[in-house]
Amino acid sequence: MKKLIAFLLLIVSLPAFADEGMWLPQLLSKLNESRMKSLGMKISAEEIYSVNKGSLKDAVVSFGGFCTGEVISSKGLVLTNHHCGYDAVQDHTTLENNYLRDGFWSKSFNEELTNPGLFVTFIKRIDDVTKEVMAGIDKNLIGPDRQAAISKNMKAVNDAAKKASTQESFVRGFFEDNQYYLFVTETYKDVRLVGAPPSSIGKYGSDTDNWVWPRHTGDFSVFRIYAGKDNAPAEYSKDNVPYTPVKSLNISLDGIAENDFTLVFGFPGRTQQYLPAIAVEQIRTQNDPAKIAIRDRALTVIDAFMRRDEQIKIQYASKYARIQNSYKKWQGEVLGLTRANAFAKKTDYENEFTKRVAAKPEWKEKYGEVLPSLNKLYEENLQYSVARDYYNEIFSKIELQKLALQLNSLVTAYENGGDKGYEARLQRVIPVMQETVKDFSAPVDKAVFASLMDVYLNDANKNFAAPTIVAAMEKYNGDATKWVDDLYKANQFYDSASVRNLFLKNPAEAVAAIRSFTAINLFSDAADIYQKQIQPTYNAKNDEIEKWQRIYMEGQMEVMTEKKFYPDANSTMRVAYGQVKTYQPRDGVTFDYKTDLKGVMEKYVPGDYEFDLPVKLIDLYKKKDYGAYANKDGSMPVCFIATNHTTGGNSGSPVLDAYGNLIGLNFDRAWEGTMSDINYDASICRNIMVDIRYVLFIIDKFAGAKRLIEEMKMVHPKVKK
Ligand code: ARG
Ligand code: GLU
Repeated sequence: MKKLIAFLLLIVSLPAFADEGMWLPQLLSKLNESRMKSLGMKISAEEIYSVNKGSLKDAVVSFGGFCTGEVISSKGLVLTNHHCGYDAVQDHTTLENNYLRDGFWSKSFNEELTNPGLFVTFIKRIDDVTKEVMAGIDKNLIGPDRQAAISKNMKAVNDAAKKASTQESFVRGFFEDNQYYLFVTETYKDVRLVGAPPSSIGKYGSDTDNWVWPRHTGDFSVFRIYAGKDNAPAEYSKDNVPYTPVKSLNISLDGIAENDFTLVFGFPGRTQQYLPAIAVEQIRTQNDPAKIAIRDRALTVIDAFMRRDEQIKIQYASKYARIQNSYKKWQGEVLGLTRANAFAKKTDYENEFTKRVAAKPEWKEKYGEVLPSLNKLYEENLQYSVARDYYNEIFSKIELQKLALQLNSLVTAYENGGDKGYEARLQRVIPVMQETVKDFSAPVDKAVFASLMDVYLNDANKNFAAPTIVAAMEKYNGDATKWVDDLYKANQFYDSASVRNLFLKNPAEAVAAIRSFTAINLFSDAADIYQKQIQPTYNAKNDEIEKWQRIYMEGQMEVMTEKKFYPDANSTMRVAYGQVKTYQPRDGVTFDYKTDLKGVMEKYVPGDYEFDLPVKLIDLYKKKDYGAYANKDGSMPVCFIATNHTTGGNSGSPVLDAYGNLIGLNFDRAWEGTMSDINYDASICRNIMVDIRYVLFIIDKFAGAKRLIEEMKMVHPKVKK
């Protein structure tokens, strides 16, 4: 009877967290296929990942190493997010051809625009090489020693990997380095921009709507892979031809309904699902709040300037968005961890682990020390990890420091390599300085600097404050604004003219001039304290933590046998599955699972920089001219949400239906569920996708790019034959 109850409890509790996970595609048939089928999937694991024949994985690419893309035509057409293609669009944007503002649509292959440095990578094969990499590795090795031994084995495995001359490979650790996999890849380096909607569609809602549901963003852009005449990867050449893929995705025009099966295929960047309770609590109460407070100050200052000054708005828009993105995510994370009581949940889990381990001598021997050790180490490391956050967050927001570090590297190069060393380094420094100076506003940077010094000296641990900064603030009676003002006057290496003059000097003169800048010494002093008093202890403790996390992972997999484990995200290819679902972020509030063009219009604020709309879109809305892309009731779908477990890097990921047809592009998560990087909770964690029919409607009806539509294969899986 007891057994039956335990079994029933297990069954009942399964669905609550069964959609969690970023799974390895080659292990789906072993671990996930039956659950996926019970959620509605109609294809086999072999159709998703196969090494023997073309499968869905052959249509999924790592886009530039930071996002995901998918092949949607036999001529190598690739879809990704607008925010993933943003830099490429920006590079082609000029005042006359403002593609960011107005959108861009090539009218023929010839008009597709080249993007030096941009690449897409296919995954050809994934092999388990754990045995080979672990061979001869002493279990007690930690830190750099272990890393060196492992790296040597990894290199040997990688060198021996079977692959075609057009292919590359790499080995990566999984499950806190308890397992290793070899990835054989093929990278195409001629990736051209085909089309992008105006930002008023592709970035609609901008920072206000970022991380927020309900969402109304058409976050997509279109690229094309080009190959040599033999269809193999080739450097850019005007003679290259559109790539013929092994597999391209069919597109479903039938739309989505609540509880429909969804599969997200992509390259999630980094998660930390197996942290002990204490680490999660530290993130919630110490690390996140410190980082949020610092960014809050920087954003408040920058925002005030951007609203007053059009020039500053242009210069700082992209920097602002970058600072804001994590800032807002961490706030959601703290909220989610608090509401879901992650600490208590993790503690219960640890108590169960400890109980089981204690009951078996062999486990006690191997795992008895794990949690006490981790608890002690996280406690000891807390002041260093927080000090590290303060240092990194504060100084990375001060652009004068970036410039100072560049100039300082010239001094070092001169000291080590004389004139030659200086000249060589200068070639690298000039472009970075030029790029930084171009979008630099001294008033903004000064105000950010002054505001953050207050945090540095009052909120951060005073034991780690740089003496130069403490002394300066004493001299100025705590008036940071006055101090910083004088500092910028005496250190004018932030405007183009001064930089140009500096670089015209001969090396000895230039180095003497650089040495006279007091700001450089000040930043070096702060960096020195960080490198000598924070980083070494942090790194040493962290090496220990990594060792115990590895043993903890091994222990969990051995002891918590009822649980299925998936490895933390590490920018390798993964599959997340789930269902289209509503959610309740707080008492009395339920969010629908889909949005509509009607909602786009409801948010419209003419002339606003976040919520303006193109006239043409408004016209199409008024005429209800949606072609084949509307819902059955004639309305126009825009975005939807589901329970797929995703993170940064999953942007642009294809969202597939039960049959493997494309139904959307992943681009964000709902705010209340961003804690899923640490603690996934099926009741509030939702990924946000743009409906593929909205994408097609924009391409076809808004942009008139029929030639692209004609390349694609549309299907109707829901229409009974
Ligand atoms: N939050 C999404 C992600 O993490 C979108 C970021 C880009 N959009 C923005 N408004 N900052 O990448
Ligand atoms: N916007 C994220 C990206 O660029 C995806 C959203 C998330 O973090 O889940 O990858």
